[in-house]
Amino acid sequence: MIVTPEPRHRTYLMCAPEHYVVEYEINPWMNTDTPVDAELALKQWDGLRETFMGLGHTVHTLAPVAGLPDMVFAANGAFSVDGVVYGARFRYAQRTAEAAAHRAFYEARPVDWRFVAPKETNEGEGDFAYLPDAYGGLVLAGYGFRTEAAAHAEAQEALGRPVVSLRLVDPHYYHLDVALAALDDANVVYYPGAFSTASQRVLRQLFPDAVLADEADALAFGLNLVSDGRHVVLNSEATALAARLSAAGYVPVPVELGELKKGGGSVKCCVAELRP
Ligand code: ARG
Repeated sequence: MIVTPEPRHRTYLMCAPEHYVVEYEINPWMNTDTPVDAELALKQWDGLRETFMGLGHTVHTLAPVAGLPDMVFAANGAFSVDGVVYGARFRYAQRTAEAAAHRAFYEARPVDWRFVAPKETNEGEGDFAYLPDAYGGLVLAGYGFRTEAAAHAEAQEALGRPVVSLRLVDPHYYHLDVALAALDDANVVYYPGAFSTASQRVLRQLFPDAVLADEADALAFGLNLVSDGRHVVLNSEATALAARLSAAGYVPVPVELGELKKGGGSVKCCVAELRP
């Protein structure tokens, strides 16, 4: 018998795509010849924000900065666990300045957060995921394209949680969050083909009950999802994955984010979870 899991209230940070365009190519999904419909992008983003609020979650917003078109992908700006924020340090010059905007957001709330500035290149929740109930609190971390493996050790020192390094091997899945997602506080869904053979073994050992996605799910940006433990907000194109998640007892909530896909992102990329 499948038991429907309980949702947990979440607090998210998002940044409106006011200055969103595809004017450089830093991942295989981006194509500067494909125009972005700015109005539609805003509408889709707002629909996502309203979906989270409709599910009872709190959504904070970060002021968009002109000249930083990828700032809508708020997941990349930092990674927080139990009131400690490990800051981001972007791989590409085009996104470098986003880190300071995120840092300012946390530092304006000095009572709640302790900010740890990074020395190593890392792209926040793009490459870090946290599972509070797995092994007493486990961080999963991706490397291979953006985040340096050295940042995993730095994050472990900053956050005081074990960090498991997973190697990404396919440039389409250049961040961990397009290949793997936390479904609840202890379990994950992932696409094995995005990881090295050794990392696939590690994932099988740690998460024997994981939901497995296939290549079509991954290409539809299905893994780039945000779950509250019960409701799984995911890209509407990922219909097969939605069915798999239903069968596992979760409640899929599809959203349309086609314009954001042009930048190489979907649901999770647009959201940083704040864990005070
Ligand atoms: N255009 C952005 C980049 O390539 C997309 C970032 C997507 N964010 C994510 N968390 N996967 O950096």
